[in-house]
Amino acid sequence: MSSARPRSADALVDSPIGVFDSGVGGLSVLRHIRAQLPHEHLMYFADSGHAPYGDKSEQFVVDRALAVTAFLLEHGAKALVVACNTATVAAIKAVRARYPELPVVGVEPGLKPAVAATRNGKVGVLATARTLKGEKFLQLREQISAANNTEFLLQPAVGLVDLIEQGDLEAPAIGAMLERYVAPLLDQGADTLVLGCTHYPFIKTGIERVLRDHARSDVTLIDTGDAVARQLVRLLEAAALLRTAAGGAPTLRGYTTADVGALAPAFDKLLGLRPPVEKVDV
Ligand code: DGL
Repeated sequence: MSSARPRSADALVDSPIGVFDSGVGGLSVLRHIRAQLPHEHLMYFADSGHAPYGDKSEQFVVDRALAVTAFLLEHGAKALVVACNTATVAAIKAVRARYPELPVVGVEPGLKPAVAATRNGKVGVLATARTLKGEKFLQLREQISAANNTEFLLQPAVGLVDLIEQGDLEAPAIGAMLERYVAPLLDQGADTLVLGCTHYPFIKTGIERVLRDHARSDVTLIDTGDAVARQLVRLLEAAALLRTAAGGAPTLRGYTTADVGALAPAFDKLLGLRPPVEKVDV
């Protein structure tokens, strides 16, 4: 099935980019998209009513990704960013198969940049349990570790997304959980940590605090938000879909499957933005 996009080239250029995540985490990617594509109309979809994805079955995540993509296409999306590692690993193949003409960019844990950054060949990967179990991720790890003689130490951060979704990024429970998950990676010698979930850049300060407490501020943190935005620029350029300043001021809209009262403050607190936010039943 192809998307319902019978629009002229001009109308398509002027259409929004759809960005989605299980919740507020994808806002860490949206930040980079806004910086690199300042003239694009954007729609951000937080599937917070179904978060976290990380402890659900693969089929559940595939079904959610397809439902959210269909919604964004109905609302005119010219391109899609799956701003969630868990959904990318589980579902991007299904999304691309259903919408072969739609430019789609996903987010995967940054194993390649980690290989470039590590000095001792030991890389910790913090991600959701679903991401670390996914076939797509395991294949990537296999390929990269064999070719580069790098050991990837996998740490599922069970419960962390739930706490971040609650909105208090300085909560003591987040600090305690980070200590529990990060310290063992340091003990095993990791000199590089991959933030393999788009929620984690928002608790970077807490991670840095754990590194300091263990006298390991030398550890490099890898976040792929910037690389994702660059890939989106390349895809839009290739498809002649880039919107320019001549089109007028860009818009931003938020959609959530949970309370507006969670996404609106997240926009404000995390990005300093106050776009219109609507609760939708998807
Ligand atoms: N931001 C999602 C990711 O990048 C969180 C997944 C979840 O909802 O558990 O993996």
